[in-house]
Amino acid sequence: MNEAAILTSPNSPLTLQALPIPTPSAHELLIKVSLIGINAIEAKIAKRGTPPPPSYPFIPGSSYTGTIVAIGSSVTKYQVGDRVLVSKRFSTQENAYGAYQRYVLVAAGEEMVARIPEGMNKDEAAALVALIMNASCVAGLFSGRLGLRKPGDEVQEGEEREKTLIYGGSSSFGRLAVQYLRCAGYDVITTSSPQHMGTVRTLSGSRSHVVDHTLPPDQIIVELIAKGPYSVVVDMISTPQTIPLASRILASQGGGKLFATQPMFSPERLPEGVERVFEPWSDSLYEEGNEGLMEWVVGTYLPFGMEKGWMSAQEVEMVKGLESVDGVLGRMVEGYGAGKRFVVELGR
Ligand SMILES: NC(=O)c1ccc[n+]([C@@H]2O[C@H](COP(=O)([O-])OP(=O)(O)OC[C@H]3O[C@@H](n4cnc5c(N)ncnc54)[C@H](OP(=O)(O)O)[C@@H]3O)[C@@H](O)[C@H]2O)c1
Repeated sequence: MNEAAILTSPNSPLTLQALPIPTPSAHELLIKVSLIGINAIEAKIAKRGTPPPPSYPFIPGSSYTGTIVAIGSSVTKYQVGDRVLVSKRFSTQENAYGAYQRYVLVAAGEEMVARIPEGMNKDEAAALVALIMNASCVAGLFSGRLGLRKPGDEVQEGEEREKTLIYGGSSSFGRLAVQYLRCAGYDVITTSSPQHMGTVRTLSGSRSHVVDHTLPPDQIIVELIAKGPYSVVVDMISTPQTIPLASRILASQGGGKLFATQPMFSPERLPEGVERVFEPWSDSLYEEGNEGLMEWVVGTYLPFGMEKGWMSAQEVEMVKGLESVDGVLGRMVEGYGAGKRFVVELGR
């Protein structure tokens, strides 16, 4: 029997329900789930209703590891018994594909299925499933959408070392971003609270500069402008507090695109010349022309990125069973996470 943690109505706790085990269609895979990585967006959907799910009842969840237990008749790339790491595409919203259940279908055409390397233990797999969504968005944003180099690419002779501003370098997405950019040969200017300053400095490298984001906003702005101008400005936090701040930095250098991680919550007045851009950042990986990048993400960056020093594990708290998911989402939305990721382990 299948079992899922289901959101039945807005602002209600997730409830556990028994469901039939789905059957994969010709191009689909059926995965028996072992570990589920919990993402910030899921806490917002479940506990704040922003963004709202497509409909209720809804099975959230995007990141998981597991074993393939059935394959559709047209699948040739995978076999029953393969251990895989999956990141669901954000726009794939049907309940059979949601990660908060024991048996999940991988949608036809869904490419972000990475084989778990031979010998990888449970803790290593947990570290990876905790980061897979943010890591795929990092590659999608910087290399897929902005065409920047990826880790391992050669910096061509004479190529300028561009300066990038990552506002919110101590968030999970931010940490992965500063490390990705540093490993690709860019200079990174970023922010952190004093608590995570040491970690963020290490991840962003010796040519980076990290500003304390707990300083008064005017002081943060002065310090960040002094380190510019920037070829890319990303606001990893994208709240009504941070968007005005990051836009003022862009405005000081004549405007440009402000890459955001969240949609607008309420009408915003941005300085002239500043355009706020938001999308699910892994989407670009599925676009024509980015097939090679997707292959690199699935075959190299995700499974071997930690080994190569391109991404680093964050503190993971493991919890057991689908019944723990609701409590974790509540803690995350209250800001308890602070640098920590949560992974749910399912029993047999
Ligand atoms: N669009 C997309 O494709 C996409 C993909 C993934 C995630 N996201 C979104 O990106 C955001 C970040 O996700 P995440 O997983 O990285 O979250 P996270 O790790 O939970 O981020 C929390 C951290 O953000 C930092 N922070 C909070 N408020 C801040 C502020 N005002 N200024 C600077 N730093 C601040 C804090 O660092 P300190 O502890 O140092 O204070 C905090 O620990 C979320 O809203 C998520 O939904 C979007």
